[in-house]
Amino acid sequence: MTQPMFDAPTVIRTKRDGGELSNEAIDWVIDAYTHGRMADEQMSALLMAIFLRGMTSAEIARWTAAMVASGDRLDFSDLRRDGKPLALVDKHSTGGVGDKITLVLVPVVMACGGAVPQAAGRGLGHTGGTLDKLESIPGFTAEISTAQVRQQLCDLGAAIFAAGDLAPADRKIYALRDVTATTESLPLIASSVMSKKIAEGIHALVLDTKVGSGAFLKTEAEARELARTMVDLGTAAGLVTRALLTDMSTPLGRAVGNAVEVAESLEVLAGGGPPDVVELTLALATEMLGAAGLDGVDPAETLRDGSAMDRFRRLVAAQGGDTTRKLPLGAHIETVTAPRGGTMGHIDAMAVGLAVWRLGAGRSAPGERVQPGAGLRIHRRPGEPVAAGETLFTLYTDTPERFAGALAELDGGWTVADTAPPQRPLIIDRIPS
Ligand code: URA
Repeated sequence: MTQPMFDAPTVIRTKRDGGELSNEAIDWVIDAYTHGRMADEQMSALLMAIFLRGMTSAEIARWTAAMVASGDRLDFSDLRRDGKPLALVDKHSTGGVGDKITLVLVPVVMACGGAVPQAAGRGLGHTGGTLDKLESIPGFTAEISTAQVRQQLCDLGAAIFAAGDLAPADRKIYALRDVTATTESLPLIASSVMSKKIAEGIHALVLDTKVGSGAFLKTEAEARELARTMVDLGTAAGLVTRALLTDMSTPLGRAVGNAVEVAESLEVLAGGGPPDVVELTLALATEMLGAAGLDGVDPAETLRDGSAMDRFRRLVAAQGGDTTRKLPLGAHIETVTAPRGGTMGHIDAMAVGLAVWRLGAGRSAPGERVQPGAGLRIHRRPGEPVAAGETLFTLYTDTPERFAGALAELDGGWTVADTAPPQRPLIIDRIPS
């Protein structure tokens, strides 16, 4: 019998001691873990070693390629609409708090003529996941076949689905990272995002790379390096790839959680909603349309004329969701009130993300069910006037014993001040510039 060329302890030791993994070692690890020949505890140790030691760009490229090769690669190049090939484009965020942008952006791009086959993820750490949010709509399912994705792309212009057989190695590793404190790693984020996007069958990709307290990478230098790494991986795979660097020191919008974020997305689709959500959606839409060769279309018009709302409803209905039914909201409510009057100061995205995770919107064990109605509403955004005693935050959960932990996370994560905090630009940079 032939002996395997590698074994997990040797590979873990190499990385633990700061060495570089060979292409063959990476291929072996990804294949062995995907097929259950490497145990969770061994992969956990390797992930922690990668977290602590990092990876060279050659290692990241190979780790990404091995994750792509672990599953299917979709191909929609044969699909036509009005006799023309589809403008296949997607965006992916590196993860933030209150980041419901996909829910608005995808219908906007659909309404502008783009086709979006989006393999989306569930919550990771303190950040929310698009699938957890959409699944809070009664009946919605992300578990759809490739045949259905193809049909929706032709008929409607989008599908948002669980990655399924795309990069299955990432699915297992993503779930493990979520519960082993190994999320905040540049090589692991870059390879996770890009393996799914390369396997997705798109021609163009826009990356929303978050920076700030609520992002996985906190400094602008790290986020910039992540954006460049992902743009290089995408370009090498033949995708037109662009990235925006955007602020995640404050949560996006006024709602953080699952169903509460769907409700806020509906407000934006109806032509209202928080200005920061609108601004980022339109900036990303403009990038996506440009990257897909659909210049000259005004994405803002789709929010004004209701065409994006119409696409959203049709997309959700195609995947079993019923937007006429009431969205869930946690049965128990707690509020945080202002100790004094003044101006709302900074609201720390990480504190809010952790509070919402503690309310039950995220997971602390693999496969755990999230609460669709868990979440938080922000009544006063930074810079808005505050009266003493008024409600600043409302928290929702079905399990009231979670309030103490959530309130503790929120404690110290916001201020009421005499003057407004300095305004930070939401969109910091574009890569390539
Ligand atoms: N999104 C992903 O798909 N993976 C990450 O690691 C972070 C954000």
